[in-house]
Amino acid sequence: MKNKPGLRIKIVLTSFLLCFSWILLAQKQDRYMEKLIRENFMLAAQQYKLLAGNTPTNVMPRNYMAKEGKLVTSNTTWWTSGFFPGSLWYIYEFTKDSAIRAEAERRLAIIEHVKHYTGDHDLGFMIFCSFGNAYRITGNQTYKNVIAEAAETLIKRYRSTTRSIQSWGRMKDSISPVIIDNMMNLELLNWVSDEWREPKYKVIAIDHANTTLKNHFRPDNSSYHVLDYDVNTGNVIRKKTAQGFSDESAWARGQSWGLYGYTMMYRFTKESNYLEQARKIALFLLNHPNLPPDKIPYWDYNAKDIPDTYRDVSAGSIMASALLELAQYEVDAKKKKEYIAVAKKILKSLSSDFYRNKPGESGGFILKHSVGSLPGNSEVDVPLTYADYYFLEALLRYKNWYLKK
Ligand code: GLY
Repeated sequence: MKNKPGLRIKIVLTSFLLCFSWILLAQKQDRYMEKLIRENFMLAAQQYKLLAGNTPTNVMPRNYMAKEGKLVTSNTTWWTSGFFPGSLWYIYEFTKDSAIRAEAERRLAIIEHVKHYTGDHDLGFMIFCSFGNAYRITGNQTYKNVIAEAAETLIKRYRSTTRSIQSWGRMKDSISPVIIDNMMNLELLNWVSDEWREPKYKVIAIDHANTTLKNHFRPDNSSYHVLDYDVNTGNVIRKKTAQGFSDESAWARGQSWGLYGYTMMYRFTKESNYLEQARKIALFLLNHPNLPPDKIPYWDYNAKDIPDTYRDVSAGSIMASALLELAQYEVDAKKKKEYIAVAKKILKSLSSDFYRNKPGESGGFILKHSVGSLPGNSEVDVPLTYADYYFLEALLRYKNWYLKK
């Protein structure tokens, strides 16, 4: 009895000390991330000025061949053409550097015509990553109109028999290939519907997302890369890969596209099936025995030479950005913590000398070690614009959502 008040004081003091240490640790981690984010944006501004100077004014940067010391560019209808202007907008958003903004505006001017491009499904990547960010940051109505025109163009590739948007090939073909990457283009359609109060684009986005949910996933929640649909019957004819190790393997970037795509679909629809699918994909990825401790995936989770094969930094940066958004919707505290922790680990890994260029390196790209298509022997172990884009996006998401103001 006599000891009880003393014991109580001890308990209160210990709890207070524990709580205080926890607050100090959280503040220290916040300061660390704040510094890391700032350092990356300072480097990005420096590198992207170099990249802009190296890139002729009528084309976009695509990758960099280190051995030859050569920047590879693409024309503006190549699927990656929106990432360079998009990254410039992200860098401007953080730094408010007017030279970066001027370059972003110049690059928008050369990509605008893509709003009428019907050659493939990639309008979401090309127009929303570029003009979408430009509009979000500036509120310029001209940009908003470009995005709306692109949505009208994109839905021309919708096939009512397959209930999905055809990814590649001509619209008179009788086989309609649909790839998991196509989920990313739905952001443009959802956004235009919400912004213009015109449901028809979102109806198509939902149809496509439901069809993909039904047909693209395996029982373990990994996804196929390419599905060929018969346009006459709407049936799936083949499930295969184009860029993965094998038809039955889990191509790393494809898994990240799926994770990002279903998280984004939940943002626009609040449909629980989409959130559930994103959670299932996260479960598959985060528990995969071949996900390395630094959380930067190999180019395919089932690649045969693991660990003696290439990482795909782009798969890592897309996954980081997607996990940070998924954590926003997660009600299970343990899962939420895990998503943020893995995304943070990816951002830290990508900020290390192994993955990140030093000032002046790689023609001005930020990150190294991505893989475009290993089976196609194209863009293997190189810097890629989309790896940089989703890295910057993830850094901003971390800053805006998880750092104390
Ligand atoms: N959308 C093409 C790719 O991810 O390589």
